[in-house]
Amino acid sequence: MKYRRFGSTDLQVSEIGFGAWAIGGAANVGGMPIGWGPSDDAVSRQALQAALDAGINFYDTADFYGLGHSETLIGELFGNRPDVVIATKVGQKVGEDGKIAIDYSKAHIMQACEKSLQRLRRDTIDYYQLHVARVHHLQQGECIEAMEQLKQQGKIRYWGASLITFAPEPEAEVLLEMQKGHGFQLVLNLINQLAVPIMQKAAQQGYGIIARMPLQFGLLSGKIRPTDTFSPEDHRSFRLTPNIIQTTQDILRTLAKQYNTSLSSLALSFILGFPEVSTVIPGIRTPQHVALNTEGLVTLSAADHQHLRDIFQSRWQPVMQMMQAQG
Ligand SMILES: NC(=O)c1ccc[n+]([C@@H]2O[C@H](COP(=O)([O-])OP(=O)(O)OC[C@H]3O[C@@H](n4cnc5c(N)ncnc54)[C@H](OP(=O)(O)O)[C@@H]3O)[C@@H](O)[C@H]2O)c1
Repeated sequence: MKYRRFGSTDLQVSEIGFGAWAIGGAANVGGMPIGWGPSDDAVSRQALQAALDAGINFYDTADFYGLGHSETLIGELFGNRPDVVIATKVGQKVGEDGKIAIDYSKAHIMQACEKSLQRLRRDTIDYYQLHVARVHHLQQGECIEAMEQLKQQGKIRYWGASLITFAPEPEAEVLLEMQKGHGFQLVLNLINQLAVPIMQKAAQQGYGIIARMPLQFGLLSGKIRPTDTFSPEDHRSFRLTPNIIQTTQDILRTLAKQYNTSLSSLALSFILGFPEVSTVIPGIRTPQHVALNTEGLVTLSAADHQHLRDIFQSRWQPVMQMMQAQG
């Protein structure tokens, strides 16, 4: 495993991190699935252990994943270990009406941080993220005040924001302008390369970069077929239509012939080809995912990397637009 510095912080993070959304299990809020369907905690623990054994030291979770369950599993296994970097998120909760609510008040963040620390069994959160904060939350300022106070108190070491999938700029621009925070999480994969310009700007200013959804929910591994169905508790049931899957497969078939590596390794290697990226976090739920996501990574030549940049414009844009329409 190789390691990269997280922006201008003192955190050294593994190039491949552990996306811990799915190990949260099948949670449902107000009738809306917020996870990937049922998970087996025994397998999730094995996956976390396999990741550690493979040199993965960066774990990305959220208080909302499995309504705390993902954090709990991570806390049980790693607790206060100093050799892992734990990133979690705040800002979504179950509202009084039982539906998903967004809360960026200072009071909520301070309280939610305490709960995350308890579940994670840690004295400090290495990197704390505003999960879905929008421009108006940042401009209103309470969330930034809360993050800075938590840092002063030593409850968190660094903080940043997770950016919106199809519109990553606005929130990043606000924080860059204010020179607040230490990093951004953004979507970057073969299908969706919208974040590249803002990522480059942020990295130049010393922000760490977490690239999420590298496999576009597994689609870029090539294993999902147009006839596949997902459990209604799996958010892919409404996100991955047969048309999206078919169009993706047609493009992947050409790539598989051009590159001498597995499609998932190609997808991850493409992202690691950006020097601005600190860590890439595929969603992992089994030890097999750990192996698939850590073996066979290649350094792409500048020409190959540029080719994959170019076909974003020429071939992937229609797929991305279909994905955007699905939400
Ligand atoms: N707003 C936010 O901050 C936000 C939003 C989304 C995600 N995230 C973070 O980013 C992480 C990654 O995103 P993601 O989980 O949505 O997307 P992803 O990594 O693109 O896809 C994950 C899924 O792909 C499959 N998979 C993983 N590795 C594979 C491999 N090598 N070959 C074939 N299939 C593979 C698994 O599905 P199967 O189990 O079906 O095999 C896995 O659940 C999340 O876990 C979370 O930590 C953050």
